[in-house]
Amino acid sequence: MIKHSDSAITILDKMTYAANRLSLEGLPNNRVKLVVGDIADAALVDELVAKHDVVVHFAAESHNDNSLHDPGVFVRTNVVGTFELLEAVRRHNVRFHHISTDEVYGDLALDDPQRFTETTPYNPSSPYSSTKASSDLLVRAWVRSFGINATLSNCSNNYGPFQHVEKFIPRQITNVLTCDRPKLYGDGTNVRDWIHVQDHSSAVQRIVEKGQAGRTYLIGADGERNNIQVLKMILRLMGEPEDAFDHVLDRPGHDLRYAIDSTTLRTELGWEPEYTDIELGLAQTIDWYRTNQAWWEPSKAQTESRYAQQLGNTS
Ligand code: DAU
Repeated sequence: MIKHSDSAITILDKMTYAANRLSLEGLPNNRVKLVVGDIADAALVDELVAKHDVVVHFAAESHNDNSLHDPGVFVRTNVVGTFELLEAVRRHNVRFHHISTDEVYGDLALDDPQRFTETTPYNPSSPYSSTKASSDLLVRAWVRSFGINATLSNCSNNYGPFQHVEKFIPRQITNVLTCDRPKLYGDGTNVRDWIHVQDHSSAVQRIVEKGQAGRTYLIGADGERNNIQVLKMILRLMGEPEDAFDHVLDRPGHDLRYAIDSTTLRTELGWEPEYTDIELGLAQTIDWYRTNQAWWEPSKAQTESRYAQQLGNTS
């Protein structure tokens, strides 16, 4: 959005472990302002929303493994935080876009010919995905009951630069870079539908500009791969043997497969992804982590020790 507009933007961020001030470097500081605060803080949210025309709600506790260990913070940020934003946009009649996940639909069998669509019933599995599903339902109810001007989007797994090292792809890349072995949960046959973060962003921009009030749009780039395929691709691109990884304890309740049908977004709003070659996207992502060690290194040790404590899944 920054690239394509001259809007003034306020980022409201709690600056938890998942945030990184270096991510803001290079943004035009005459029109991008950071406010450190909590979306569940009603007074702060009200004050900020009153001064803006559009709210794009990206804020969330987003990591499944953490939600198995400490679900309370997910309820507070994802459910209560969304409620406070909804109340504020209702009071001030402000346009709202809610970012959500394909995980609200639960998972699919590996051989299911169906993919998720806007009408797939909600069936979340984890504390994380159930709080995101709850927040989506709040948005839908505020549209129907109070007529707020809101859209929703549910996106598949993101990859690319600036992603926290707790997530699958950057965890494995940075393991290789720190001479640790990549960690694959279970047998690694779980399928994720990968999309480059730039494509997610361009889809959100399109929905904010052209989406129809009250509608849900699914965002995906036809990027289904299982975890072993992705991990072997990373190892190959990094010049390592394809079997240089460890199988570790599986995630409890681990969803088997996600798959998005993004036909509505493409046909109605004319959106198309640019990053259609996942191997190229991964190679660029690996380069980014290689050259931006200062961005991720401070959080690497802490992330690995959290994994060790939570799931014992480091070896
Ligand atoms: O589908 C969208 C969702 O994608 C988002 O809503 C979530 O916020 C985001 O975290 C992501 O959820 P996943 O649980 O699918 O992502 P994660 O990166 O944790 O794991 C991706 C797959 O890789 C999953 O099958 C678990 C597996 N995995 C993960 C880690 C961290 C491993 O095999 N080893 C690992 O070390």
